[in-house]
Amino acid sequence: MGHRMFKILDAKQLASDVKWFRIDAPLVAKHRQPGQFIILRLSETGERIPLTIAHSDNQQGFIEIIVKAIGKTTIELCKKEKGDSISDVMGPLGEPTEIEKVGHAVVVGGGVGTAVIYPLARALREAGNYVSAITGGRTKELVVLEDDLKAVSDAVYATTDDGSHGFKGTVADKLRELLADKERPVGAVYCAGPVPMMRAIADLTRESGIKTIVSLNPIMVDGTGMCGGCRVSVGGKTKFACVDGPEFDGHEVDFDELWDRLSAYRDQEKAAVDRMQHECKCAAK
Ligand SMILES: Cc1cc2nc3c(=O)[nH]c(=O)nc-3n(C[C@H](O)[C@H](O)[C@H](O)COP(=O)(O)OP(=O)(O)OC[C@H]3O[C@@H](n4cnc5c(N)ncnc54)[C@H](O)[C@@H]3O)c2cc1C
Ligand code: FES
Repeated sequence: MGHRMFKILDAKQLASDVKWFRIDAPLVAKHRQPGQFIILRLSETGERIPLTIAHSDNQQGFIEIIVKAIGKTTIELCKKEKGDSISDVMGPLGEPTEIEKVGHAVVVGGGVGTAVIYPLARALREAGNYVSAITGGRTKELVVLEDDLKAVSDAVYATTDDGSHGFKGTVADKLRELLADKERPVGAVYCAGPVPMMRAIADLTRESGIKTIVSLNPIMVDGTGMCGGCRVSVGGKTKFACVDGPEFDGHEVDFDELWDRLSAYRDQEKAAVDRMQHECKCAAK
């Protein structure tokens, strides 16, 4: 059987370093549920990177992703245009989000995490919830995703650290305000973004016990629970974010360990992960 390439059906620059893609992937689209992700490789020798499926259409057989160019593979991907192809798209991976009727659902996204909460906002609203979306960052690049969020949420709050756009403060500051609003009690919080941000959000809701789901972003390699790269501790138990997550109870996650593992990777483990990737590749053959 020949190698099937995945064609880019459409592409749109959302901001200087954020790009939206529609990709022909009927099998992934057929099974995909909100909260799931893909692992893609640009070429047969390329690095594997996980990306959330922002939207999909089973009838037309496509998936959509929103990518922020931050490193080698994402920068290369963001240079692709309509008509180009991607070597491998593996998925859908991960456990779907448990979409419940909670009344007032708040989704919180920081940086690239906004791409993760976008499909959640959509699904939560379709399930009949009142959805408030908080999207934060330092720069105004998030303004584009803010517009996308507006189409699928009841209320959208953009926050910037310096107040140059929207609310001046962090996403946690905004959430604190929403939690204080007794008129519209918050039923659950869904959050994706940098580790310190997710920790701050989980700390805010811990005492009141409001359900808080965080979407974790550890290093992923094979995406099938085999390599252990995405190991996280939740409620004292070891979990693999790729098969058990990526969403977990924010009150149970060991954020210290997650942070240490991400930092260790940044400083020293890159070579090891590259090797592991190579080994996974060999094992897959
Ligand atoms: C479940 C999940 C969903 C994600 N969804 C999105 C999304 O929708 N849009 C988006 O723009 N980004 C998303 N990311 C982050 C994305 O995977 C990284 O930005 C990407 O892997 C960076 O690769 P790079 O080669 O461009 O950068 P590099 O320079 O290689 O890495 C930059 C940083 O990205 C992270 N990273 C690198 N390789 C991996 C890897 N294999 N797995 C996980 N993290 C890695 C590390 O923190 C690293 O420090 C998601 C991550 C996870 C785990
Ligand atoms: S990426 Fe989860 S175990 Fe390998």
